[in-house]
Formats: sequence, C-alpha cells, structure tokens
Amino acid sequence: MAPSRPAFARWLGQTNDVTQIFLSAGQVPDLINMAGGLPDPSIWPVDDLAALAASAVRDHPTEALAYSPIDGLPALRDLLAARYATPGLTLTRDNVMITSGGMQALDLIGRVLLEEGGLIAAQAPTYLGALDAWRPHHPRFRPMRLEANDFDPAAAFAGAQFAYTVPNFSNPTGRLVGLAQRQALLAAAQATGVWLIEDDPYGTLYYDGAQLPRLLTLAGQAKPGPYDGPVVYLGTLSKEVAPGFRIGWVIAAPEMIAALTAAKQGSDMCTSGLNQRIALDAFASGLADRMLPGILDLYRSRRDALCAAMARDLAGLFDWDKPEGGMFVWATAKDPGMDTDALLKKTLAHGVCITPSSVFDPEGTHRRSIRINFTLNPPERLAEGVRRLARAAAAPA
Ligand SMILES: Cc1ncc(COP(=O)(O)O)c(C=O)c1O
Repeated sequence: MAPSRPAFARWLGQTNDVTQIFLSAGQVPDLINMAGGLPDPSIWPVDDLAALAASAVRDHPTEALAYSPIDGLPALRDLLAARYATPGLTLTRDNVMITSGGMQALDLIGRVLLEEGGLIAAQAPTYLGALDAWRPHHPRFRPMRLEANDFDPAAAFAGAQFAYTVPNFSNPTGRLVGLAQRQALLAAAQATGVWLIEDDPYGTLYYDGAQLPRLLTLAGQAKPGPYDGPVVYLGTLSKEVAPGFRIGWVIAAPEMIAALTAAKQGSDMCTSGLNQRIALDAFASGLADRMLPGILDLYRSRRDALCAAMARDLAGLFDWDKPEGGMFVWATAKDPGMDTDALLKKTLAHGVCITPSSVFDPEGTHRRSIRINFTLNPPERLAEGVRRLARAAAAPA
C-alpha cells in the first residue's frame, strides 16, 4: 500500500466554490460577465504601450531584464513619492515600495502583521481578494460598518493587528467613505496605534464629484516632517492603466516598507523590472494621465446605463444606491429570504454572471446582496444582462 501523503494545509478547506464558479464563468459562450472588476480592453492604448515596452528593453536593458531591487526600481519609487506628495505630506523613496499588483501588498501585509488567529478590523463587506490573501493565517474578523450611526472606530480598532478599508468606491459596495468618516478612522489609528490599511485601486475613478483627500494625505497633514504615520496606502496600475502589468505600490512609514521588503524577499524576490520600467514611462510620459478622461467618460456612461436598466427591470426586487465612482453597483434584495448563492446558479443558467455577497463575508453567511460590474460591457449588453438577471430571479429554484 502506498504511504499516505501529508495533508494539505488546513486553510485550503476553508475556501468556497462560489469563487471558482464565477471565475470560470468567463469560458461559457454568450455568457454576460457582470461579476469581475474588469476594465474594458478598449481603454488600452496598445500602440503606445507597445512602444514603451520596446523602449524599456532596448533603452533600459539592465533595469528591464536583470533582477530588480526587492523594493523596486529607485526611479519608479521616486516618481511615486513625488506623485503622492502634497504640501502637507512629505514623501521620499524610503516611503515607497513596488509590489506585484495590489494583491501582493495585501499578502505581504498579512505576513508581516498577522499572528495565527489574529484580529482584523475590516470594512464590511470585505474585498474578496483580501479575505483570500489573509486566510492562511486563520484570522478573526471584526466587521466595521462605517455607515452605521453608532459606528465607533476606536472600539473597532481595539486589539486588532490592523484595520482595513477601501475608502474610494469600495469593492464590493461601490460606497464612498465621507470626509468625516475618514478623519474618524485616522483619529482612531492615531489613538490606538493600530495600522490602518487604505486599499485604493479606484481612487482616480470619480465620475461625479471632486476627489476626497486620501487617508494618507490626512495622516501626513496631521504631523509635519517625513511621513511615518499609521496609514499604509496601497495603489495599483491595474485600473488606471492595465492589470496585466501586475504593478502595485505601497506608501507607508519607512519601518513598514522595510518589513514588507523583508517579506517580499521570501515571496517573489522582485517585481518584473520590465513592467516597472513600462509603468515608470507610462507615468513620466503623461500617458497614464492622458488615458484618464476617456476612461471616466466611458465608465460613467456605463454606470448610468446599468442603473437605468436596473431601474426598469429590478426595482421590484432589489434596492441599490447609484455609486459616484468605481466599478460596481451593490444591490440588496427586498426579500430578506433571498439566497444570492442560489440566485447565482440560476443566473448562470440564464446566461449572466453576478457576484453573490457571501464571498465578501468571512463567515460566508451574508446571502442577500449581489455585486454587479458595469465597466466591462457596453450599454446594450448591460441591459440584456439585467433582463436575464430579472428572468433568473423570477424563475423557480
Ligand atoms: C479593493 C481591491 N484591492 C486590491 C485589488 C487588487 O488589484 P491588483 O492586484 O490587480 O493590483 C483589487 C482588484 O480588483 C481590489 O478591488
């Protein structure tokens, strides 16, 4: 008899199959995918990006093709320090590291801060990728409902190893955290000493109003001198330019950057130099900034198209707020008995894929809401997707 193999780690038994279902749904013909946080490929200036890629290899072969420093190309770190600095926020290269996407930053934060079974104070519902990144540490979660009238950030942070928020157009809810709430979160971090993770992939995707100050900016203003505050800011190239480059960055106190760099050494050693060089040139040449107005116009019109279609076909079944930015509408069933895991199975049979709320809940018990993406599909596909969703919801189980 063959000897039995060692068991896989315990956390592997704690993932859910809903994630697998909606990630593989992209393969089904004519399925309308409204599940992912996916950009529209039409926003990519492929000729410009190809020119940057060619120049990165030809003109900067050492940076592009050798191993990079663990914390990233110095020139890209300098550029990001300058890009995020404000009159009240002093940043240097020592405040910045480059990661392989925002996802790696979440993973590294878990590695440097979480003890086994440690406590995370997390904005609820919580980004699925963050739950995935931290699951191997078997954390406990204290959900933070920032919009609740009685929400007390200092009580929420007490005893936590860190606090986590997506203040700009949260994934999954699309909700914007207001200025007073931002100030209250920062005050709690300062009072308790708890690190405050500001995960900000959607920070440039404001469709209606002016941008609110980042927690990072508020933290810099609160204390003059080189930045060493409690906010750990995570940025990414994924929504501003393209996710395929897998370029993200952390802006934080130098001691946090040093800890994350030590963790990155044992993870991937360095982020692709080629892609860092392309990112550097995309910012330095102004390409990223030139892309933004077109992205905003396209996504704003798609948000409006989705909300109009939902008002036509789903108003009897769900409640939602029109988001002021980001990529998602979060809709909650009027019927408290609705099970959106079951609804997902029906929607797939009707040719549309949405994300059920259970995957954004560490306990998996929140079954009443769905997240709908509006950035990937043109208006007529969004309208058809909503029609299919309404038909699926009306169909017998
Ligand atoms: C809230 C949030 N954080 C992090 C990420 C990870 O982004 P990436 O790894 O592509 O930079 C995403 C992607 O959708 C996200 O929505």
